[in-house]
Amino acid sequence: MASNPERASSVEGAGRATASGLCLRVVATAGFADYALLDCGDGRKLERFGRFTVERPEPQALWRPVLEPGQWLRADATFKSTAAEEDGEGGRWRQNNPLPDMWPVRVLGVTALCRLTAFRHLGLFPEQLPHWQWMLEWLRGVRDKPARVLNLFAYTGAASLLAAGAGAEVTHVDASKKAIAWAKQNQAASKLGAAPIRWILDDARKFAAREVRRGKSYHLILIDPPKFGRGPEGEVWDVFTHLAPLLRDCAMLLAPGPAALVLTTYAIRASALATDGLVRECLAQRRGACESGELAVIEQAGGRLLPTSLFTRWTSDDATH
Ligand SMILES: C[S@@+](CC[C@H](N)C(=O)[O-])C[C@H]1O[C@@H](n2cnc3c(N)ncnc32)[C@H](O)[C@@H]1O
Repeated sequence: MASNPERASSVEGAGRATASGLCLRVVATAGFADYALLDCGDGRKLERFGRFTVERPEPQALWRPVLEPGQWLRADATFKSTAAEEDGEGGRWRQNNPLPDMWPVRVLGVTALCRLTAFRHLGLFPEQLPHWQWMLEWLRGVRDKPARVLNLFAYTGAASLLAAGAGAEVTHVDASKKAIAWAKQNQAASKLGAAPIRWILDDARKFAAREVRRGKSYHLILIDPPKFGRGPEGEVWDVFTHLAPLLRDCAMLLAPGPAALVLTTYAIRASALATDGLVRECLAQRRGACESGELAVIEQAGGRLLPTSLFTRWTSDDATH
């Protein structure tokens, strides 16, 4: 992979990448006051979310942990996978100390209420911090205020709340009633009750297709899909089958003038080159720049980069932004 920036920007402008012009990036965070990846290794990770430390499986932590076993043993909760599910999400939490049902984690001025879920996560994906910071910076530069943000597969809504807190009008779409209820609890905890957020319980593909038919447009679209999912009426979401048609609709939904799209994919057998190629193809009619790579979290104990997900970010080249 060559890293000639001139070459890279010229191919990006053409909506095409060549082997010699594309450079994947690692975008990493060291966490924030209320979150740290303390250590990882032997297929596990030790993290601090607010006041509590948790230990959970992490198949990509192939190396050895740095901290002494005694420090891992002090975790407040530990997720044990069921034997058959080492790679999946099945298993259960063991509380080593009593934890509240929910507790607050502050990030960039909003509050995410975290809890131990059966899917081994806690309702917040801290590796998204660089995307959130990037989004806030990008929104600051949009002259056409208020900016309209569409958040698809929006889960517990950290990005929706951050965008709304920055003055954007947000459309938050998720297929799970529970996730939307949780996002609304986060809205209340963040004291953003008056912020303009439309909460939409719908299948992301159906909603995007409907918005295209209605002639709607958005300045910024965030897409954070799971590998598999279900819409509220059982509609199947399979990232390999449905991401391309969804992105074609999203390309039509992007406002003329300043616009951007951020796609993150988790736990799929794919490369960021694949999402990069797809996003470039979908937006080939527009002038813009595309960058792709991996999101990672920097571990405190050893400074190693734990990979979490793939991303592709597209931004229009617009003089008015
Ligand atoms: C793992 S979460 C995404 C992470 C989240 N955006 C974040 O960073 O906090 C995936 C979300 O996709 C939702 N989902 C799954 N299938 C869906 C579908 N067909 N349409 C809309 N949302 C869906 C789930 O309910 C879940 O909330």
